[in-house]
Amino acid sequence: MEFKSKIKTIEWINNKSRMIDQRLLPKEFKIIEITDSEGMYKAIKEMIVRGAPAIGIAGAHGVALAAMEANKFCNDRQSFNKTVKQKSDYLKSSRPTAVNLMWAIDKQLEILSENGSSSQITDKLIQNAIKMENEDIEINKKIGQYGAKIVPQSAAILTHCNAGALATVGYGTALGVIRSAYAKDPTIKVFADETRPRQQGARLTTWELTEDGIDTTLITDGMCSYFMSKKMINLVITGADRIASNGDTANKIGTYTVAIAAKYHKIPFYIAAPLSTIDLTIPCGEQIPIEERNHDEVTHINGDWICSPKVNIINPGFDVTPNELISGIITEKGILYPPFNESIKKVFEQK
Ligand code: MRU
Repeated sequence: MEFKSKIKTIEWINNKSRMIDQRLLPKEFKIIEITDSEGMYKAIKEMIVRGAPAIGIAGAHGVALAAMEANKFCNDRQSFNKTVKQKSDYLKSSRPTAVNLMWAIDKQLEILSENGSSSQITDKLIQNAIKMENEDIEINKKIGQYGAKIVPQSAAILTHCNAGALATVGYGTALGVIRSAYAKDPTIKVFADETRPRQQGARLTTWELTEDGIDTTLITDGMCSYFMSKKMINLVITGADRIASNGDTANKIGTYTVAIAAKYHKIPFYIAAPLSTIDLTIPCGEQIPIEERNHDEVTHINGDWICSPKVNIINPGFDVTPNELISGIITEKGILYPPFNESIKKVFEQK
């Protein structure tokens, strides 16, 4: 059983980036086309496309679009390279936390050091973006296969935010594990946290899981401890936006609370993420930049004020779960276990 739409969340077609507009789901399923690098910056920033691996591919597409633009008005390779680099830095600044964005753009920028005309390099950047797009689905399927092994029979799995097909090119990371487990055991159940303030759990996770026929219950963010105490949840799997070298993991705000509740109730808490989400340049979670988002996300629901306009607001988009709360990190190369400093180092040495 697979995500029924069979449409990639983001796809390069006819020299454009075509994506699902995730701001509108589940009310409306709309595909939009991004035709320039400025449009891609906005699509990432405004969360038309969201989820760490999907943002990475959006960044790779953005660099290809930047090269197509530079190829039109730059007379030599030097000015072409300079323009593509500038536009790429701008794309990187669209969202700070998900390291997949920086990773994918940097992979693209490696091509700028190759020989060839500007149009040859542009073609290579397009081909590489398509390659990364296809690899993303393969990686998620491998994560799913490894992860399914830790899912007990008739499991009741809690997930937070959306780490599904919509957060990737297809299949998903945390939801990829759930899909893979469900293929073997259709009795598994999922609890989806609503995930305030943008409600990715309610709007996206419940939509894509129920489309696949998976038994899914929506709960609000404050309910998880209650259901854990009632033994109605026996496993937690979430995605990640950036994992430090010691395993500390940034994911959607509220993930840390879920991890603390899971530890208290002795419930395994797993992260599912590709190796591109691991940032070896930072030793621990304190160095992960946390995005501060628009306060309207907290003060308003569907355009209406839900609080006093005089109240103070803070709206961090992510939090960091310390490594000691994490049972394992499910990657495309297998499951990494504590001590994460060692298992992370080892998996990159094998790469
Ligand atoms: O702000 P978002 O919707 O981009 O945040 C998404 C998440 O936090 C996901 O859990 C994470 O990116 C992993 S997606 C496979």
